[in-house]
Amino acid sequence: MKPRPMIAGNWKMNGLAASLVEARAIADALAQAGSSAEVALCPPATLIGQMAEALRGSPVLVGGQDCRAEASGAFTGDISAEQLKDAGASLVILGHSERRAGHGETDELVVAKVEAALRAGLRPIVCVGETLEEREAGWAIAVVTGQVEDSLPKALDGKAFAVAYEPVWAIGSGLTPTTEQIVEVHTAIRGVLKRRLGASGEAAPILYGGSVKPSNAAEILHADEVGGALVGGASLKSADFIPIIRALG
Ligand code: PGA
Repeated sequence: MKPRPMIAGNWKMNGLAASLVEARAIADALAQAGSSAEVALCPPATLIGQMAEALRGSPVLVGGQDCRAEASGAFTGDISAEQLKDAGASLVILGHSERRAGHGETDELVVAKVEAALRAGLRPIVCVGETLEEREAGWAIAVVTGQVEDSLPKALDGKAFAVAYEPVWAIGSGLTPTTEQIVEVHTAIRGVLKRRLGASGEAAPILYGGSVKPSNAAEILHADEVGGALVGGASLKSADFIPIIRALG
């Protein structure tokens, strides 16, 4: 079965209460024309509750950008999967390269976070991707498939989840891999997913992320094994994000 595509926006550390008008504009556009994709917005944790409220009754899902593996406890500043769920999230981005590089997150930690998300009833979007040095050394496929092997727990068997391939060098840089490079990596990821998780591995959409914008969305989204997009900068303004959703056709 071909996975239903997903277009998810990652607002990162951007957005104040005033930005909720952008979320509402996206919901209004979907109400008018619908979409073959599942659409999600992952605002900073401070906005999850308000965004879930603002989008109530709309098909736009709300997600977190990270969670702690533990359900509760003395972890100042951290947020658990249960708390995200309680605030109105149904998804959570895990293992983003900005967490892996900036917060020392290992594949092992990502596994624990994915398990926590599943326990809380959140759908994980697990991010993987090579650095420029790794790509130039010819290691992109090995690095990415290794991350998929090591970041996805067996507990995903039978569960809904997504993987996002985000080359580190493409994030926020305006650079994107060629369509052939994207297809090569996505096909390799699909191979690992099928082998490790069977039917659930076949049903999981593999999103592409890294400098997706209205001008390149159609080509990327229609490439083989591309099951949607994880969009950073271009998800902050509905005027950019809506054409990306529309590019799916
Ligand atoms: P970008 O970010 O679209 O701004 O490149 C993508 C991401 O980091 O998820």
